[in-house]
Amino acid sequence: LFAGQVDFLKGVVAMSGLPDADRTEVCFAGRSNVGKSSLINALTGRKALARASNTPGRTQEINYFTLGENHFLVDLPGYGFANAPLPVVEKWQALLKRYLSGRQTLRRAFVLVDARHGIKPVDEEIMTLLDSAAVTFQCVLTKIDKVRPKDLEITLRQVREKLAPHPAAFPEIILTSSEKGDGLSTLRATIATIK
Ligand code: GTP
Ligand code: MG
Repeated sequence: LFAGQVDFLKGVVAMSGLPDADRTEVCFAGRSNVGKSSLINALTGRKALARASNTPGRTQEINYFTLGENHFLVDLPGYGFANAPLPVVEKWQALLKRYLSGRQTLRRAFVLVDARHGIKPVDEEIMTLLDSAAVTFQCVLTKIDKVRPKDLEITLRQVREKLAPHPAAFPEIILTSSEKGDGLSTLRATIATIK
């Protein structure tokens, strides 16, 4: 489903710019620098499809990719700290929230969480927003290549605990490394089941 089947469609800066809601849509949300764009690149096997960088706040638009005939993959700007002027950040944060709570065809939000840091209050805020909008979300741990197995266990326990009270949370957690390739086939298979 993924190889050679993903193309960049457009970057969106306002709700009015969203493409027609005629495909099943999944999005990648998470704090700035958590690895959203890198994960999209890793999933597709293309290094520079989505722009990734070490600067938090790299992605400043809602970036749409087509996946095959029936899906959109959506790379979102990060929330939390960003290396950009405050008015700019506030504008894209407002857009992000409007998108997450108002996109009819959004079937699942993957909420990415850094395996070293676990779920932060700002993640919980987004999860609560997704609960209210009745958008199913699934937690994806990123950068697992950077943690020891013992610390990964600790993060996993915290994440399970934090997810429990959220009615919109999908119970399975996917462990990934864009660097090493862990979890990519699981994530691809998961997306393929979303109709
Ligand atoms: P914003 O667009 O700023 O919100 O960030 P983002 O969530 O899209 O993060 P991005 O993909 O740009 O990655 C941020 C940094 O983390 C980059 O320096 C990546 O190389 C690094 N990174 C991403 N995924 C991994 C991973 O699995 N392992 C390691 N070691 N580094 C990673
Ligand atoms: Mg990004």
